[in-house]
Amino acid sequence: MPKLETMALPVNRITQEDFIAIKLLIKESAALPDPIKCKKGRQIGFDWIYNFESTKVLEARNNPRIIRAFCSKTISIDAHSKFLYSYSQIPRIDFMLADIESISLVGSVYLTLTSLGLEIGKYISNEAYLSAGVAKRSFQSFRAYLNNYFPESTKIISKTRKDNLANIALNSSIGFTSSGDLPGDFLLMEANL
Ligand SMILES: CC(C)(COP(=O)(O)OP(=O)(O)OC[C@H]1O[C@@H](n2cnc3c(N)ncnc32)[C@H](O)[C@@H]1OP(=O)(O)O)[C@@H](O)C(=O)NCCC(=O)NCCS
Repeated sequence: MPKLETMALPVNRITQEDFIAIKLLIKESAALPDPIKCKKGRQIGFDWIYNFESTKVLEARNNPRIIRAFCSKTISIDAHSKFLYSYSQIPRIDFMLADIESISLVGSVYLTLTSLGLEIGKYISNEAYLSAGVAKRSFQSFRAYLNNYFPESTKIISKTRKDNLANIALNSSIGFTSSGDLPGDFLLMEANL
Protein backbone atom coordinates (compact mmCIF):
# COMPACT_ATOMS: atom_id res chain seq x y z
CA MET A 1 0.00 0.00 0.00
CA PRO A 2 1.53 3.38 -0.97
CA LYS A 3 2.54 5.65 1.87
CA LEU A 4 1.78 9.26 1.05
CA GLU A 5 3.86 12.30 0.61
CA THR A 6 1.86 13.27 3.71
CA MET A 7 4.53 11.40 5.65
CA ALA A 8 6.25 14.75 5.89
CA LEU A 9 3.26 16.19 7.74
CA PRO A 10 3.72 17.19 11.37
CA VAL A 11 2.31 14.27 13.34
CA ASN A 12 -0.25 16.15 15.39
CA ARG A 13 -1.10 18.94 13.01
CA ILE A 14 -3.11 17.33 10.29
CA THR A 15 -5.17 20.06 8.72
CA GLN A 16 -8.56 19.69 7.12
CA GLU A 17 -6.87 19.88 3.69
CA ASP A 18 -4.39 17.15 4.60
CA PHE A 19 -7.23 14.98 5.84
CA ILE A 20 -9.27 15.42 2.67
CA ALA A 21 -6.19 14.62 0.54
CA ILE A 22 -5.59 11.42 2.51
CA LYS A 23 -9.27 10.50 2.29
CA LEU A 24 -9.20 10.92 -1.49
CA LEU A 25 -6.16 8.69 -1.73
CA ILE A 26 -7.82 6.07 0.42
CA LYS A 27 -10.95 6.14 -1.74
CA GLU A 28 -8.90 5.88 -4.92
CA SER A 29 -7.05 2.87 -3.54
CA ALA A 30 -10.43 1.11 -3.17
CA ALA A 31 -8.96 -0.82 -0.24
CA LEU A 32 -11.02 -1.57 2.87
CA PRO A 33 -9.95 -2.58 6.37
CA ASP A 34 -9.58 -6.36 6.75
CA PRO A 35 -12.72 -8.15 7.95
CA ILE A 36 -12.65 -9.48 11.50
CA LYS A 37 -14.06 -12.55 13.20
CA CYS A 38 -15.89 -11.89 16.46
CA LYS A 39 -15.85 -14.13 19.53
CA LYS A 40 -19.13 -15.67 18.34
CA GLY A 41 -17.44 -16.78 15.14
CA ARG A 42 -19.26 -14.29 12.89
CA GLN A 43 -17.30 -12.57 10.12
CA ILE A 44 -17.72 -8.81 10.17
CA GLY A 45 -16.77 -6.71 7.16
CA PHE A 46 -16.22 -3.00 6.60
CA ASP A 47 -17.66 -0.73 3.94
CA TRP A 48 -18.05 3.00 3.40
CA ILE A 49 -21.11 4.56 5.00
CA TYR A 50 -22.46 5.74 1.62
CA ASN A 51 -22.69 2.17 0.37
CA PHE A 52 -25.49 1.36 2.81
CA GLU A 53 -29.14 2.34 2.64
CA SER A 54 -29.65 5.57 4.57
CA THR A 55 -32.60 4.15 6.50
CA LYS A 56 -30.45 1.24 7.72
CA VAL A 57 -27.58 3.54 8.70
CA LEU A 58 -29.93 5.85 10.59
CA GLU A 59 -31.64 2.93 12.29
CA ALA A 60 -28.22 1.99 13.67
CA ARG A 61 -26.99 5.50 14.47
CA ASN A 62 -30.31 6.62 16.00
CA ASN A 63 -30.51 3.65 18.33
CA PRO A 64 -31.40 5.26 21.72
CA ARG A 65 -28.43 3.53 23.42
CA ILE A 66 -26.04 5.10 20.91
CA ILE A 67 -27.70 8.52 21.11
CA ARG A 68 -27.33 8.38 24.90
CA ALA A 69 -23.67 7.35 24.75
CA PHE A 70 -22.88 10.14 22.29
CA CYS A 71 -25.13 12.74 23.99
CA SER A 72 -26.32 13.55 20.49
CA LYS A 73 -29.64 14.18 18.81
CA THR A 74 -31.25 11.80 16.37
CA ILE A 75 -30.17 12.38 12.77
CA SER A 76 -32.91 13.04 10.23
CA ILE A 77 -32.94 11.52 6.75
CA ASP A 78 -32.59 15.05 5.39
CA ALA A 79 -29.50 15.79 7.47
CA HIS A 80 -28.03 12.43 6.44
CA SER A 81 -28.65 13.15 2.74
CA LYS A 82 -26.89 16.51 3.06
CA PHE A 83 -24.02 14.80 4.87
CA LEU A 84 -23.65 12.26 2.06
CA TYR A 85 -23.91 14.95 -0.60
CA SER A 86 -20.86 16.80 0.77
CA TYR A 87 -19.15 13.71 2.15
CA SER A 88 -16.01 13.92 -0.01
CA GLN A 89 -15.29 17.37 1.45
CA ILE A 90 -15.91 16.47 5.09
CA PRO A 91 -12.82 15.43 7.09
CA ARG A 92 -14.28 12.09 8.16
CA ILE A 93 -13.74 8.47 7.28
CA ASP A 94 -16.76 6.39 8.22
CA PHE A 95 -17.04 2.65 7.86
CA MET A 96 -20.10 0.65 8.71
CA LEU A 97 -19.62 -2.84 10.10
CA ALA A 98 -21.84 -5.57 8.73
CA ASP A 99 -22.18 -9.28 9.33
CA ILE A 100 -20.83 -10.71 6.09
CA GLU A 101 -23.26 -13.64 5.99
CA SER A 102 -26.52 -11.90 6.91
CA ILE A 103 -25.46 -8.45 5.59
CA SER A 104 -27.09 -6.91 8.66
CA LEU A 105 -25.51 -3.83 10.16
CA VAL A 106 -23.63 -4.28 13.39
CA GLY A 107 -22.15 -0.84 14.05
CA SER A 108 -19.55 1.60 12.86
CA VAL A 109 -15.98 2.83 13.30
CA TYR A 110 -14.84 6.21 12.12
CA LEU A 111 -12.14 8.84 12.26
CA THR A 112 -12.97 12.53 12.18
CA LEU A 113 -10.98 15.73 12.45
CA THR A 114 -12.52 17.91 15.15
CA SER A 115 -11.33 20.92 17.12
CA LEU A 116 -9.83 18.41 19.58
CA GLY A 117 -7.79 16.55 16.96
CA LEU A 118 -8.15 13.27 15.10
CA GLU A 119 -11.03 11.71 16.94
CA ILE A 120 -11.87 8.05 16.74
CA GLY A 121 -15.42 6.83 17.25
CA LYS A 122 -17.09 3.45 17.36
CA TYR A 123 -20.44 2.02 18.20
CA ILE A 124 -22.07 -1.37 18.15
CA SER A 125 -25.75 -0.81 17.43
CA ASN A 126 -26.85 -4.44 17.16
CA GLU A 127 -27.09 -5.75 20.72
CA ALA A 128 -26.62 -9.35 19.63
CA TYR A 129 -22.99 -8.44 18.83
CA LEU A 130 -22.13 -6.62 22.08
CA SER A 131 -19.27 -7.95 24.23
CA ALA A 132 -18.12 -10.22 21.42
CA GLY A 133 -14.91 -8.34 20.68
CA VAL A 134 -16.40 -6.57 17.66
CA ALA A 135 -15.44 -3.04 18.72
CA LYS A 136 -11.94 -4.04 19.82
CA ARG A 137 -11.13 -6.17 16.78
CA SER A 138 -12.72 -3.69 14.36
CA PHE A 139 -10.77 -0.86 15.88
CA GLN A 140 -7.54 -2.86 15.53
CA SER A 141 -8.26 -3.59 11.87
CA PHE A 142 -9.25 0.04 11.23
CA ARG A 143 -6.10 1.27 12.98
CA ALA A 144 -3.84 -1.01 10.88
CA TYR A 145 -5.61 0.25 7.77
CA LEU A 146 -5.26 3.94 8.69
CA ASN A 147 -1.60 3.36 9.45
CA ASN A 148 -1.07 2.73 5.74
CA TYR A 149 -2.10 6.28 4.99
CA PHE A 150 -1.51 8.56 7.97
CA PRO A 151 1.95 9.57 9.19
CA GLU A 152 3.54 7.25 11.72
CA SER A 153 2.78 8.04 15.37
CA THR A 154 -0.13 10.27 14.47
CA LYS A 155 -1.97 11.08 17.69
CA ILE A 156 -5.60 9.99 17.90
CA ILE A 157 -8.05 10.88 20.61
CA SER A 158 -11.26 9.56 22.04
CA LYS A 159 -13.80 11.74 23.82
CA THR A 160 -15.96 9.69 26.09
CA ARG A 161 -18.55 10.24 28.79
CA LYS A 162 -17.02 9.59 32.19
CA ASP A 163 -19.79 7.14 33.00
CA ASN A 164 -19.17 5.17 29.79
CA LEU A 165 -17.17 2.51 31.59
CA ALA A 166 -17.39 0.05 28.70
CA ASN A 167 -15.76 2.50 26.31
CA ILE A 168 -13.13 3.59 28.82
CA ALA A 169 -12.22 -0.07 29.45
CA LEU A 170 -12.20 -0.74 25.71
CA ASN A 171 -9.98 2.28 25.04
CA SER A 172 -7.56 1.28 27.80
CA SER A 173 -7.33 -2.22 26.34
CA ILE A 174 -6.27 -0.80 22.98
CA GLY A 175 -3.60 1.52 24.34
CA PHE A 176 -5.42 4.77 25.08
CA THR A 177 -4.48 6.68 28.21
CA SER A 178 -6.43 9.40 29.89
CA SER A 179 -5.23 12.90 29.08
CA GLY A 180 -7.66 15.05 31.01
CA ASP A 181 -11.21 16.16 31.63
CA LEU A 182 -13.40 17.96 29.16
CA PRO A 183 -16.42 20.11 30.00
CA GLY A 184 -19.71 18.28 30.45
CA ASP A 185 -18.43 15.18 32.24
CA PHE A 186 -16.36 13.96 29.33
CA LEU A 187 -12.94 12.39 29.48
CA LEU A 188 -10.27 12.83 26.81
CA MET A 189 -8.12 9.81 26.03
CA GLU A 190 -5.27 9.58 23.56
CA ALA A 191 -3.10 7.04 21.78
CA ASN A 192 -0.87 6.79 18.76
CA LEU A 193 -2.29 5.47 15.54
C1 LIG B 1 -18.35 0.71 23.96
C2 LIG B 1 -18.74 -0.29 22.89
C3 LIG B 1 -18.31 0.26 21.53
C4 LIG B 1 -18.01 -1.64 23.19
O1 LIG B 1 -18.31 -2.53 22.12
P1 LIG B 1 -18.13 -4.11 22.25
O2 LIG B 1 -18.01 -4.67 20.88
O3 LIG B 1 -19.19 -4.66 23.12
O4 LIG B 1 -16.73 -4.22 23.00
P2 LIG B 1 -15.73 -5.47 22.91
O5 LIG B 1 -16.51 -6.72 23.02
O6 LIG B 1 -14.86 -5.31 21.73
O7 LIG B 1 -14.92 -5.30 24.25
C5 LIG B 1 -13.56 -4.89 24.26
C6 LIG B 1 -13.13 -4.54 25.67
O8 LIG B 1 -13.94 -3.45 26.15
C7 LIG B 1 -14.28 -3.65 27.50
N1 LIG B 1 -15.73 -3.72 27.60
C8 LIG B 1 -16.64 -3.91 26.61
N2 LIG B 1 -17.89 -3.88 27.08
C9 LIG B 1 -17.77 -3.66 28.41
C10 LIG B 1 -18.71 -3.52 29.46
N3 LIG B 1 -20.03 -3.58 29.23
N4 LIG B 1 -18.23 -3.31 30.70
C11 LIG B 1 -16.91 -3.23 30.94
N5 LIG B 1 -15.98 -3.36 29.98
C12 LIG B 1 -16.39 -3.57 28.74
C13 LIG B 1 -13.59 -4.86 27.96
O9 LIG B 1 -12.34 -4.44 28.48
C14 LIG B 1 -13.37 -5.65 26.69
O10 LIG B 1 -12.20 -6.40 26.76
P3 LIG B 1 -12.27 -8.01 26.80
O11 LIG B 1 -12.76 -8.45 25.44
O12 LIG B 1 -10.87 -8.40 27.06
O13 LIG B 1 -13.23 -8.36 27.86
C15 LIG B 1 -20.27 -0.59 22.90
O14 LIG B 1 -20.67 -0.86 24.22
C16 LIG B 1 -21.11 0.57 22.37
O15 LIG B 1 -21.42 0.61 21.20
N6 LIG B 1 -21.49 1.52 23.24
C17 LIG B 1 -22.31 2.67 22.83
C18 LIG B 1 -21.54 3.63 21.93
C19 LIG B 1 -20.27 4.10 22.58
O16 LIG B 1 -20.20 4.26 23.78
N7 LIG B 1 -19.24 4.38 21.76
C20 LIG B 1 -17.99 4.89 22.27
C21 LIG B 1 -17.99 6.36 22.32
S1 LIG B 1 -16.92 6.92 21.01
